[in-house]
Amino acid sequence: MSQSDFHTTAPAATALEAPGIDWWTMLTDPAYLESPYAELKRIRDLGAVHHDAVSGVYFVLGHNEFRQMATAPEMGRDTRLWANGWNAPESRVRDPLGYELFREFQPQMTNMNPPDHRRMREVYEKAFSPARLAGFLPMIQAESERLLDAVPAGVPVDFMSAFANPLARAVSRKLFHIPPEMGDLLGQWVEALSLLGNVIMTPDQKREAQAALRAFKAYLRDAIAARGDAPGEGFVGLALAALADGTMDEEETLTNLVTLISGGTATATLLGNGLLALLRHPRAFGQLRADRGLIRPAIEEMLRYEPGGSFILRVAIRDYACGGMLIPAGSLAIGLVGAINRDPIRFEDPDVFDITRQPNAHLVFGAGPHICLGKALVRMTAEVAFASLLDRYGRIELAGPPVWWTHRSDQHGLHSLPLRLASAQ
Ligand code: HEM
Repeated sequence: MSQSDFHTTAPAATALEAPGIDWWTMLTDPAYLESPYAELKRIRDLGAVHHDAVSGVYFVLGHNEFRQMATAPEMGRDTRLWANGWNAPESRVRDPLGYELFREFQPQMTNMNPPDHRRMREVYEKAFSPARLAGFLPMIQAESERLLDAVPAGVPVDFMSAFANPLARAVSRKLFHIPPEMGDLLGQWVEALSLLGNVIMTPDQKREAQAALRAFKAYLRDAIAARGDAPGEGFVGLALAALADGTMDEEETLTNLVTLISGGTATATLLGNGLLALLRHPRAFGQLRADRGLIRPAIEEMLRYEPGGSFILRVAIRDYACGGMLIPAGSLAIGLVGAINRDPIRFEDPDVFDITRQPNAHLVFGAGPHICLGKALVRMTAEVAFASLLDRYGRIELAGPPVWWTHRSDQHGLHSLPLRLASAQ
């Protein structure tokens, strides 16, 4: 991946730059993508915040620095403010395809600052209330059991394609009333769109993402129209009520739904990364088998130790001082979760996988006004999935080397996880 694929900003004269870090080569290196922690530790030891003179991006590796930045009013999430970035006026000429793609993806809560962010987020917060989520529990349990019923015992099986990915997709489809026959197409759209979080995209990937976004929105527009005057309950119903009363316009309604439906599939990374962490730490796995009360702290430790999301973005609305650096207005800052979640300032023995860790203030779901809306759903789904696995299988073993994604820097997930699953005897 060359630097020309990346939208650069002018280097900020105010910042100190740590020499010798070729950021984008590192962030796209397959060995780093498989296990970034040693490299991130080395860089965090040099400083909690770094500036890359080539791309103009600020990288935040310290836990305290990231938490403060993520909640600071000077730092927002509106990428239109990123000088020279995706939605900057200059990009319209330099990269018309990218400009148009990000313009079409822009109108949603993820990419908004106050007050628009709150206006949109409030619509969906109701849908993620604990009472509403509890109503989905039987559905998640049924989906989990249905998928495991089809997994053959005692022979090698890929956990990601047999269970983790289909479970995350099935839950997402059910929440948003998408019929099963749309499953394959939906999977393709989500895959093409997932690269939008990667910051770096090739022209072909941009073209694919744009086609997927347009097809996804067209499908949702038709599905909404088919509901007529009866929006109904749940996530889609709330979105439609907000459309009807003018809280959101049609583009905002559709783009938020695209992200909510796509975001749902991220749960699969937790199931894969988490189970692999257990398999690589048999003592911890044994502890969990012996005491099911540890399932919640174990899931938190999976999220901390092997986080599925690697980048959390902010764009400076105004100049912001962070970790001894000045992040000038209009700059992009990226929190590197693999470093933040293992910062020794916050975590004792950060490289130890400890399923009894308390407290566990990992930041895999971000912090501040944009903190992940789906986090309670993620935790509930993971709890159901790991309980089902432990109930059914007394033996869960690796049946081959796991294969990590190496095609994206913003996510740390498994392409495949070959396992052999069997009951205890
Ligand atoms: C393991 C799975 C997941 C991880 C690691 C994750 C992580 C994140 C992160 C880091 C953010 C940005 C937070 C920030 O900027 O401070 C975010 C935002 C968001 N997530 Fe998740 N997420 C996951 C699953 C989900 C699911 C299942 C859904 C929905 C069903 C979801 C919906 C959202 C939405 C809508 C936002 C934007 C919130 C806003 O801007 O106000 N996520 N997520």
